[in-house]
Amino acid sequence: MEKFNIAIDGPAGAGKSTVARLVARALGFVYIDTGAMYRAVTWKALQIGIAPERKDELVRMAAGLRIELHPGEDGQQVVLDGQDVTGLIRSSEVNRNVSAVAAVPDIRALLVAKQQEMAKAGGVVMDGRDIGTHVLPNAELKIFLTASVKERAERRYLEMKAKGEDVTLEQLEREIAERDRLDEQREASPLVRAHDAVLVDTSGMTVPQVVDRILELSNTAAGKGTR
Ligand code: CDP
Ligand code: CDP
Repeated sequence: MEKFNIAIDGPAGAGKSTVARLVARALGFVYIDTGAMYRAVTWKALQIGIAPERKDELVRMAAGLRIELHPGEDGQQVVLDGQDVTGLIRSSEVNRNVSAVAAVPDIRALLVAKQQEMAKAGGVVMDGRDIGTHVLPNAELKIFLTASVKERAERRYLEMKAKGEDVTLEQLEREIAERDRLDEQREASPLVRAHDAVLVDTSGMTVPQVVDRILELSNTAAGKGTR
C-alpha cells in the first residue's frame, strides 16, 4: 500500500489515541501520539519546578531535552533523556498544566519540527490538536474526532477507575471542559477542525466501529498518496 499520512485531531477523550493506534496497526503504519510530547515537556517542567508562566526557562529546558517515541504493543513508549516516562506523563498534575505549556509558541515550534521530521517518509498515523491544520497540512486523510463532553468524561472515568485512581466523574467533566476551552481559545495553533477534515462524532459508537469508518476513509485516501 502507498505510504500516505493520516492526521487525527480532536478534544480529550474523543478516542484519538485508541483509534489511531488500531488504524496504524491495521495499515502497517507508525502511530505517533503528539500529546505525549507536550506531556513529557510538562512533566519535566513540574519535576524541576519551572512554572508554565516562566516561558523563557521553559523553552530553554525543552530545547535541550531528548524526547524519543518508541512504538510498543500497548501503545507508545515515551523516553525522556534516557528515562522511560510513559507511566508518569498521564497524571492529574500533568493534565492540569499541559495546556498552558502547549500554548507557548516556541514550545510548539520545537515539537512541531520534530513531528514533521518523523512523518517525512510517510506511513504515519499522527494524533493531536493541530496535525491537520499545522503539522501535516498535506496529509492525505484528515479526521476530526469528537464526542460529547459527558461521554468523553465517562470514558476517562472508566479508564481511571480501572487503574484504581480516585477521581469523580464531575471532576473529570470539569477538567476536560477546561482543557477544551484552553486548547480551543489559545492563539498558537488552537484546536480547530481543518476545512478538509472529515468529522467523525464517536458519541454512541464503539471503538471497532470508529476504526472501520477510518479504514474505509483511508481506502479512498490511499489513491491520493503521492509519495
Ligand atoms: O489524551 P488527551 O486527549 O487527554 O490529551 P493529549 O492528546 O495527550 O494532549 C495533551 C495536551 O497537549 C492537550 O490538551 C493540548 O493542550 C496539548 N496538545 C497540543 O497542544 N497539540 C497537540 N498536537 C497535541 C497535544
Ligand atoms: O486520545 P484521546 O484523548 O482522544 O482518547 P483516548 O485516550 O483514546 O481515550 C478514549 C477512551 O474511550 C478509551 O478508554 C477507549 O477505549 C474509549 N472509547 C473510545 O476511544 N472510542 C469509542 N468510540 C468508545 C470508547
